Amino acid sequence: MREVEHPGGAHPATLILGIGELTTNAPEVVGVDPADDPTGLVRDAALLLDGGRVAWVGTESACADGVEQALGRAPDRVVAVEGRAVLPGFVDSHTHLVFDGDRTAEFEARMAGRPYAAGGIRTTVAATRAASDDALRANLRKHVDEALAQGTTTLEVKSGYGLSVADEERAVRLAAEVTDEVTFLGAHVVPPECADDPDAYVDLVVGDMLAACAPHARWIDVFCETGAFTPEQSRRVLEAGAAAGLGVRVHANQLGPGEGVRLAVDLGAAAVDHCTYLSDDDVAALAGSWSSGGASGGSSGPAAHGTVATLLPGVEFSTRQPYPDARRLLDAGAVVALASDCNPGSSYTSSMPLMVALAVREMGMTVPEAVWAATAGGARALRRDDVGHLAPGARADAVVLDAPSRTHLAYRPGVPLVHAVWQGGRQV
Ligand code: NIG
Ligand code: FE
Repeated sequence: MREVEHPGGAHPATLILGIGELTTNAPEVVGVDPADDPTGLVRDAALLLDGGRVAWVGTESACADGVEQALGRAPDRVVAVEGRAVLPGFVDSHTHLVFDGDRTAEFEARMAGRPYAAGGIRTTVAATRAASDDALRANLRKHVDEALAQGTTTLEVKSGYGLSVADEERAVRLAAEVTDEVTFLGAHVVPPECADDPDAYVDLVVGDMLAACAPHARWIDVFCETGAFTPEQSRRVLEAGAAAGLGVRVHANQLGPGEGVRLAVDLGAAAVDHCTYLSDDDVAALAGSWSSGGASGGSSGPAAHGTVATLLPGVEFSTRQPYPDARRLLDAGAVVALASDCNPGSSYTSSMPLMVALAVREMGMTVPEAVWAATAGGARALRRDDVGHLAPGARADAVVLDAPSRTHLAYRPGVPLVHAVWQGGRQV
């Protein structure tokens, strides 16, 4: 990467030139038919960042005029990326990063043939409760930095390893130190001290725990699954969260079929995550949520309010479960996102490039579909219209790959391809 620098402020106006292929996810802005290419790919492109936002995007041949119009002066910094591919920063809409402890032994047992079960979560609950605030904070920051270095510029973080009023409040408070996308997941599993009376635990979650956590959170979530919470309990939790002003997201259909996906659509959830075991009705409900006749349809624009099916292939990779069928969802018209589910039990990886590779190689997605799902799809799952795409006004979050094309994310799995990252207009 070559660059020329002039003095700039906190967010120097930066012109990135020599982009071999630029994924904008903004086809209309760059004159591409969205039906042909929803990723709005531009070859031989340039990108102007200013004030933490994208100021201009287009072909390099049009960039002198574009910069003049958008900026009216020379940029503070010009970076030539020498034919590399550039894409929006990854939007990882599902992680569990407030935790302590390690579950290597559980992973080893699984690789020796033992199945994954929801109960493993309690191991992390014990370690998390015993950890100091500073230990949790340090672990959280370590993983956020690890994700950022791999191109994740927007990250959702859940609680769910505290499971008492004080420990859940602490988890959402610490999560809010690193992201605006904080999810209260007090209903992750029933903690051991409430095992005899799960409904009393749900009373606590929708009562004092929600009251303590809602001020720090944007979202409510529940693990609707055998071994965790029933559909009835899940509905109670989600309705209470919504009444407290939180947006709805759901963990469902991970370990087997169930009612969680339809519950999520019924409640107008932003996303339902895992979606590994789906019936035809589940698929139809997810697709229908985006049509005007759907349960929660009717709005339009980048953050239109249907329910995103968020697929988490790191889980299937790490638990030897069958992968979710992305092709079936896409062919039915559902909106699909990819996320890491980074957590110490079922998917201990923060790598969005790995999710793209798994989705392409194991789940029937094309490279453009997988890249869209890991960027714009994550933004839809978080109902954000400022991230996940690179068009004027969007947050200046961009990833430069050390590769001539985004296809290398799947073609060269496991290789550290992230060459540079801009977040909010600043190179990190
Ligand atoms: O998303 N499914 C529920 N929760 C996590 C697993 C957490 C754990 O095993 O610690 C998940 O996979
Ligand atoms: Fe999860």
